[in-house]
Amino acid sequence: MINAVSAWQGMAPLLARAAWAPGYWALDLHCPEVARTAVPGQFVHLRVAGPDLLLRRPISIHEVDGDRITLVVAVVGTGSQWLANRSEGEELDLIGPLGQRGLSFEPGARTVALVGGGVGIPPLHFLATRRPADGPRLVAFIGARSEARLLGLDNFAAQGCEVVVSTDDGSRGFLGTNVAALADYAKHTRIDQVLACGPTPMMRAAALWAIEHGIPSQVCLEARMGCGVGACLSCVVETRREGWDRYLRVCTEGPVFDGDNIVWETLSPMVKLD
Ligand SMILES: Cc1cc2nc3c(=O)[nH]c(=O)nc-3n(C[C@H](O)[C@H](O)[C@H](O)COP(=O)(O)OP(=O)(O)OC[C@H]3O[C@@H](n4cnc5c(N)ncnc54)[C@H](O)[C@@H]3O)c2cc1C
Ligand code: FES
Repeated sequence: MINAVSAWQGMAPLLARAAWAPGYWALDLHCPEVARTAVPGQFVHLRVAGPDLLLRRPISIHEVDGDRITLVVAVVGTGSQWLANRSEGEELDLIGPLGQRGLSFEPGARTVALVGGGVGIPPLHFLATRRPADGPRLVAFIGARSEARLLGLDNFAAQGCEVVVSTDDGSRGFLGTNVAALADYAKHTRIDQVLACGPTPMMRAAALWAIEHGIPSQVCLEARMGCGVGACLSCVVETRREGWDRYLRVCTEGPVFDGDNIVWETLSPMVKLD
């Protein structure tokens, strides 16, 4: 567990801004206070400006290099558009690192599947950069609807991961979802742990596959967040582990949870599961 009281609030200068993929922007921030303690899966909560933009926006940490943190922002609405439009030299008001539980490797795991897509790529990439020299072999199953929407392939390859690509339309790699690609791969190679970040239906499918095969899994959940620090309860998810509260907050008790602890049937009414 991470110490939740270590979160810092302040102004972080934007060092660089670059197009990362169509509709995605990479923002490099000078933020030693966050860089020092951040672990994969944690996020920062960024103030955005403009009419009707009251709430901060949660964004995962993609990479840490010295005093610099890199975020990858997908433009989906006005808040993310505002973030993507910032210019070098501007300062962003952020709180972080937030989240009490990050992604971690299962002790003794030899081959770990990273199952990712969309804005789930950053936490998995950050984890890949933190693989210990004697750590598990990482296989990144990266999926998208079509080739043009695939993200982060070079980033994972640069970290020494084997990259298995899948597309729903078969335009590149395995034809089907990345969870189907994982199931296919597991026919010939033993998988010891599954770590999934991305759209909720993808994480649910990865967690259910892992449960079916008796493999431990972790998922990095996304939820609509109000405060980001445990006060407003807007981000609760239903869990089923004995001895825990039934409803846990993604911002403070998560964002990482064991896949078999989530009640997937009730997760996020925003998302259609099938
Ligand atoms: C822990 C965590 C980590 C995240 N990491 C990243 C990241 O690394 N990069 C990134 O681009 N985004 C990330 N997100 C999602 C990001 O916070 C939202 O996309 C952003 O807040 C949208 O703000 P907006 O004003 O642009 O969109 P809005 O106008 O608020 O919404 C636009 C659309 O996006 C949907 N949406 C908004 N917020 C969320 C959310 N939290 N979960 C699911 N759907 C949402 C809305 O339902 C709506 O359809 C993360 C979210 C969480 C909770
Ligand atoms: S966002 Fe307020 S409790 Fe989680």
